[in-house]
Amino acid sequence: MTDVRESMYLVSEFAKEYFNNTLLNSEEGKAIGLSYFKERGFTNETIKKFSLGYSPETWDAFTKEALGKGYKLEFLESTGLTIAREDRPFDRFKGRVMFPIESMSGRVLGFGGRILTNDKKAAKYLNSPESDIYHKSKVLYGIFQAKQAIAKQNNCYLVEGYTDVIQFNQAGIENVVASSGTALTPDQIRLVNRLTRNITVLFDGDAAGLRASVRGIDLILEEGMNVRVCAFPDGEDPDSFARKNSHDELVAYLEENSKDFIQFKASLLMKDAKNDPIKKADLIRDMVASISKIPDRIQREVYIQECARIMDISEQVLTSTLAQLIQKDL
Ligand code: CTP
Ligand code: MN
Ligand code: MN
Ligand code: MN
Ligand code: MN
Repeated sequence: MTDVRESMYLVSEFAKEYFNNTLLNSEEGKAIGLSYFKERGFTNETIKKFSLGYSPETWDAFTKEALGKGYKLEFLESTGLTIAREDRPFDRFKGRVMFPIESMSGRVLGFGGRILTNDKKAAKYLNSPESDIYHKSKVLYGIFQAKQAIAKQNNCYLVEGYTDVIQFNQAGIENVVASSGTALTPDQIRLVNRLTRNITVLFDGDAAGLRASVRGIDLILEEGMNVRVCAFPDGEDPDSFARKNSHDELVAYLEENSKDFIQFKASLLMKDAKNDPIKKADLIRDMVASISKIPDRIQREVYIQECARIMDISEQVLTSTLAQLIQKDL
């Protein structure tokens, strides 16, 4: 651990406490931030568990406070919490509710800050920039709070957003992490792989969520892990769905709708292809392409059998298609 990174962690930890304190104890924080979280149904316990916060609507209140406490401008800048300006450095996060992003061991790496309106033109979330401690492609939001539950349940729910993680926790489902809207990466999957070999992908019920789930499947398979997918109704995400349903309803929904990736792809593509033979052929090739990502040979074989059964096609054809794809990869 270099001194530079250690200093960046310390500044980030201070920022977490500052934003949390501002949320809970300042007039502005209570009136704007806290009431926003309450409207979303977050309890005090949840706010504490995820160290949620609020950044005041000022030019440099946070920066000033941090400098006053002896934190160096150098590290305020390198973490992206402060934006350099020769005459007057200013706060990156202003008038936003704050979500600290923590490492597996609970160190603060960066922040996501959400605007309080639903203005479609403004970027909804502002995130910390990449830095020596924050690599967006290597973190999973919520992993610190989730790690024990993931190991115990031997499964990890993978969602898109901060609030999906939080709402699931409130609904009593703790084995959940978010890719935070970025395309899933091998590094993120490997973080989960340290805790379990099983991932259930729960992306938003919209076109973007569907595309992301489909891409995620192959990456997870490539890591030699098992992947299930649970789709949400149109327009719902795990957060909105969890809020509308009781704990028992949510658990039942997840149980009934989580499908093995091959079943998921089949149902997806069947909807699309119906009785069109060309589309059906495309979808079979697509399924075999996913199977070709699985490192274990026996597992591939089992999925080929499954695919043949579901799609009502001979195993031989699938096996030779698979062999071609694997040849190409070598
Ligand atoms: N995201 C981001 N920047 C954006 C939009 C999204 O970083 N401009 C990330 C956030 O981590 C967000 C996730 O992508 O949580 C999923 O995006 P989306 O589904 O649009 O947001 P929700 O998490 O559903 O947020 P909310 O319920 O607050 O609208
Ligand atoms: Mn680095
Ligand atoms: Mn979305
Ligand atoms: Mn969403
Ligand atoms: Mn949402």
